[in-house]
Amino acid sequence: MLQTKDLTIRFGGHVAVNAVSCVFAPGTLTAIVGPNGAGKTTYFNLISGQLKASGGSVMLDGHDISSLGVSARTRAGLGRAFQLTNLFPNLSVFENVRLAVQATRRGKHRRGLNLWSIWSDHGALVQRTDEILATVAMQDKQDAVVASLPHGDQRKLEVALLIALESRVFMFDEPTAGMSVDEAPVILNLIRSLKNDPTKTILLVEHKMDVVRELADRIIVLHNGALVADGDPAEVIASPVVQQAYLGVNPEDADSDAAPAAAPVLNGGRT
Ligand SMILES: Nc1ncnc2c1ncn2[C@@H]1O[C@H](COP(=O)(O)OP(=O)(O)OP(=O)(O)O)[C@@H](O)[C@H]1O
Ligand SMILES: [Mg+2]
Repeated sequence: MLQTKDLTIRFGGHVAVNAVSCVFAPGTLTAIVGPNGAGKTTYFNLISGQLKASGGSVMLDGHDISSLGVSARTRAGLGRAFQLTNLFPNLSVFENVRLAVQATRRGKHRRGLNLWSIWSDHGALVQRTDEILATVAMQDKQDAVVASLPHGDQRKLEVALLIALESRVFMFDEPTAGMSVDEAPVILNLIRSLKNDPTKTILLVEHKMDVVRELADRIIVLHNGALVADGDPAEVIASPVVQQAYLGVNPEDADSDAAPAAAPVLNGGRT
């Protein structure tokens, strides 16, 4: 279980994330929405350790991980998608996943779980690598050199590496941004399939409301760095705070012809 308690960061006089307290349970996908500059990416940066908080804490399974750096948090199970710097562009898809599986097992050995004797077995490494490639539907690309892959496949591979690293929390910040019409459904399907695993906690920052409606079990809304709504997707989308602040609908005008049509995105049309 992931939890933030009064998580806060100030940039000079500007409070970009303001005392956000929230619990994210395994087996749920929480969408984080809010207008541009609301603090969504900054909140992710604080959770993943890219930024150090000015106040408050990040807890994972009851342990305060606030003082850990990015790699220690990754080892603890926090997986921030599309921030990985450990794709090896000149190696194959298979080799990239196998190295991540191997590194994870070796890391466990170092931490004293004594699995090294089992996982040093090449056959077991290959088997686990095959399983992960099947999960992300990349078996047919396993021999491709990573540098030659289209953008969408590279992103799928990054998710495969998070699975190999045994991440329990998957954080996606606008996962389809910059993707072609063909590529976007592929990554959304992958997020959909991760949702089937009750041990995974998924956080998704997304402006496209059709995607949020379909995937989210819960929506939280950030506005000026603060958490202003949290709950069931239908209720949050219908709440006055979302209708008024992000969709430009004045509740008093809601029945009038003059009311602006609700836009299907929460950022005024930018994608
Ligand atoms: N490193 C930084 N230094 C100073 N200000 C920052 C820094 N990072 C973010 N901010 C500010 O914090 C606020 C929140 O930015 P953030 O990128 O988290 O918003 P966001 O909700 O992700 O927006 P978008 O939907 O456009 O991605 C903004 O006002 C931004 O300018
Ligand atoms: Mg952002």
